[in-house]
Amino acid sequence: MKTVITYGTFDLFHVGHIRLLNRLSELGDRLVVGISSDEFNELKGKKSFFSYEERAEIVSACRYVDEVFPEHNWEQKLSDIRQYNAKIFAMGDDWEGKFDFLSDYCEVVYLPRTEDVSTTKIKKTLSKLKKNELEKIESSLHDVIEIVKTMSHD
Ligand code: CTP
Repeated sequence: MKTVITYGTFDLFHVGHIRLLNRLSELGDRLVVGISSDEFNELKGKKSFFSYEERAEIVSACRYVDEVFPEHNWEQKLSDIRQYNAKIFAMGDDWEGKFDFLSDYCEVVYLPRTEDVSTTKIKKTLSKLKKNELEKIESSLHDVIEIVKTMSHD
């Protein structure tokens, strides 16, 4: 059993996330995903649209993902790698070089990001829209959560 481990906030789940998780799942037999807790995001100066519970629910409904767990701080990666017996630690290449120190414990891989999409870009676009349009989108996003909830996990 070859386990791949990755981390991220995965807010406003988008095609860049799906493509990365797809490619990560092909690197091994099991993909486990650490999702930034709301407190950890605060520490990083980020505020997600969806709560940790919602983001975890969405990512775990993805067919490429076997398990999710919360990431509470920068220091837990080594103990997670040991706990999950991960053979590959992988991230998008915006993190290139940042986690090379983990290569004493497992293989460290950086995959190319999907171009032209990011949560930050989506948020910027949304913030330009008029308030009533924003309210409609917010309600649609919550509808998506309800749909995801009804999807079965492969
Ligand atoms: N990712 C990717 N391609 C994208 C966007 C993200 O491969 N277009 C990857 C990142 O490299 C990371 C993972 O998805 O390994 C989770 O990224 P996250 O930071 O949650 O998503 P972003 O869209 O990059 O969010 P932000 O704009 O807030 O940084």
